[in-house]
Amino acid sequence: MQRHKSNAFFPISAATLSELNRCVGESCFFTDEISLKNHGHDETEDLLFLPQAVAEPENTSQVSALMRICNREKIPVTIRGGGSGLAGGALPIFGGLVISMKRFDRILNIDRRNFQVTVEPGVITENLQNTLKSEGLFYPPDPSSRGWSFIGGNVSTNAGGPKAVKYGVVKDHVLNLEVVLPSGETIWTGANTLKNSTGYNLTQLLVGSEGTLGIITKIVLKLQPHPTQNLLMLVPFRSAESACAAVAEIFQSGVTPSGLEFMERNAIDWAVRYVGETPVPIQEEDAAHLLIELDGFHIDSLMADCETITRVLERFDAGEAFFADDETTKTSLWKLRRNVAHAVKRNSVYKEEDTVVPRAELPALLKVVKQVGAQYGFESVCYGHAGDGNLHVNILRGQLSEEQWENEVPKGIRKIFQFVKSVGGTISGEHGVGLVQRRYLDIVFSKTELKIMRQIKKVFDPKGILNPGKVV
Ligand code: LAC
Ligand code: ZN
Repeated sequence: MQRHKSNAFFPISAATLSELNRCVGESCFFTDEISLKNHGHDETEDLLFLPQAVAEPENTSQVSALMRICNREKIPVTIRGGGSGLAGGALPIFGGLVISMKRFDRILNIDRRNFQVTVEPGVITENLQNTLKSEGLFYPPDPSSRGWSFIGGNVSTNAGGPKAVKYGVVKDHVLNLEVVLPSGETIWTGANTLKNSTGYNLTQLLVGSEGTLGIITKIVLKLQPHPTQNLLMLVPFRSAESACAAVAEIFQSGVTPSGLEFMERNAIDWAVRYVGETPVPIQEEDAAHLLIELDGFHIDSLMADCETITRVLERFDAGEAFFADDETTKTSLWKLRRNVAHAVKRNSVYKEEDTVVPRAELPALLKVVKQVGAQYGFESVCYGHAGDGNLHVNILRGQLSEEQWENEVPKGIRKIFQFVKSVGGTISGEHGVGLVQRRYLDIVFSKTELKIMRQIKKVFDPKGILNPGKVV
């Protein structure tokens, strides 16, 4: 792991460290080297920034107490969830205090009558989903990291995942939030209702704010009945662009899949190698695959939708579709898809670009990515949530020199992002801006738009202590 020296411009004094320590207790406060290292990186490239201390509060009043001290002393504070972020949002780039939310791990109330759940931010997303499922309830957003990311981190980045294409992203499921402000005051952002046109929408402002405005300590999510049926198929294509071109046509046929994922050849090959399972043979001539899922409550209607999709695919040079006809095969296909990021990382350090365009522009985006790669001398592996027009472009470090990696590749990324903007898209669909996408914000926002965002940041955090150097 590459080390970037922390720029601790406000070193925490020994007296303040013991004051912070007293807020959470000896056993939940850490300054040893291993703890600092463990909280100094997420999944972003090979970046490491050491904090000065790590606190693990277990309730809202402990968070408030920590924040009052940090605000008084102007100590940079970085909030940490599961550490699965790909934009560097959880990196304590100025040292200071990391507040880990891992002890906020309780599901507080499942309200079946109203289809709602109140949950603490440190609950692992998949655990929440499984608990709800056992009661017939469904919380759809399912980022690939759901087995280890925290629901609080999902809210903070406005995460997505495969099911977003039918059910929407995290923002579409958050009703209300309890938030501790940098001053230590606690607020609720909204109401536990499906409708709310009362005042400014602070809930949606906090969703996706990546720990820069406040610390989320309780989350109220809306739920729905869990679908009882699903179908899953993996479809090979001779050309990656025709796989992308088929995507918009599937929606135009009137069908909305519950997952429509794209993987180019290297993505699936590397995932097969990484996971060590081959649920389906990949043919020599397959350039890319679409993984298509349908879900609902009536198998007959899913079968009818599936036939409609098959007819669309015939027009796009698709090979024979592979249907997963049992749970084991379905699980293993999803395992492949969910492990692409890990598989790429095993091959090379990479820059993750989370491009998103209106879905019919997807084939053009893929083409531009490859052209720019050829021009600037980098290789990329592309995959992602094709149904949302959300293409993850993994740019491989491979054998590139420091100079190419730090200076040339960003010029290429800029070109890709300029294209994305020109077709009405943006530079992150679900991973956030964090640290690494900040330098490109001028492509998507005007000076006036950025100024408004910076003013909002100031209202919440006048001293600039919450996750400094991130987002705006
Ligand atoms: C995925 C993550 C990287 O889609 O967003 O696998
Ligand atoms: Zn994704």
